[in-house]
Amino acid sequence: MTVSTAEMAQARVRADAEARAPLLEVAGLTRRYGARIGCADIGFDLWPGEVLGVVGESGSGKSTLLACLAGHLAPDAGRVLWRDRDGRARDVLAIPEPERRLLARTDWAFVRQNPRDGLRMGVSAGGNIGERLMAGGARHYGRIRGAAADWLARVEIDAGRIDDTPRAFSGGMQQRLQIARNLVSGPRLVLMDEPTGGLDVSVQARLLDLLRGLVREMGLSAIVVTHDLAVARLLAHRLMVMKDGRVVETGLTDQVLDDPQHAYTQLLVSSALRL
Ligand SMILES: Nc1ncnc2c1ncn2[C@@H]1O[C@H](COP(=O)(O)OP(=O)(O)O)[C@@H](O)[C@H]1O
Ligand SMILES: [Mg+2]
Repeated sequence: MTVSTAEMAQARVRADAEARAPLLEVAGLTRRYGARIGCADIGFDLWPGEVLGVVGESGSGKSTLLACLAGHLAPDAGRVLWRDRDGRARDVLAIPEPERRLLARTDWAFVRQNPRDGLRMGVSAGGNIGERLMAGGARHYGRIRGAAADWLARVEIDAGRIDDTPRAFSGGMQQRLQIARNLVSGPRLVLMDEPTGGLDVSVQARLLDLLRGLVREMGLSAIVVTHDLAVARLLAHRLMVMKDGRVVETGLTDQVLDDPQHAYTQLLVSSALRL
């Protein structure tokens, strides 16, 4: 198949428009649980190729925010606009359910803290990865299996384990498999909730290294929720600090961590230093 000059020009115009428009535009996002605040009045833009870190102690509203962004949880107020492949700004809440399900398996990725929540535990490692390719339209068995084997290698899992189920994997391997499953489809937006949270410190370091490499190589646009400032420092370009459901400080990662302005951020940074 030959690609016409007109098609190439069109693709260039699209890529150009994409680079100049935010991938996500979030405004006034609020979610309560009864009288309790989950998150309140959150607003930010996420640009293509940008990694936004969301930090704050447990209970500060990070997971609630992420669930609202992914359309898992309906906010009480506010708006999340998503720039689709055609450059159209779409209200995430208004996307019809079948399309949202398809997006969740192709353009969007959601890496959960517990790999058991993000993997099909009874399905082989290869199947876990292949499933997302099939959702994106892949049909050729040999090519799907080949891509799955490539991705196992990329996340440092022996290709000989392709037919094993994740039950037989260590926690670190399961998390790496979850990452492969999510990234194989070339997602345009990656949401991660405490991706290194449940792991031993040595396993965490290796996973973080791997994640950082993938984020850079693939130029991923991502939101990484973490209570661990070291994770934020390594992965995020920009930080948003949350406390009691609200954003108390935002800025470039180094700025926020090296020269925190808000008393709460200062406390977070100084308590991380004492560890
Ligand atoms: N399903 C729920 N029902 C009631 N309250 C909840 C629920 N999920 C979260 N919350 C409350 O919302 C606030 C934010 O929680 P969460 O988003 O889980 O924070 P984080 O991810 O930063 O730990 C907390 O006060 C928490 O207790
Ligand atoms: Mg959480």
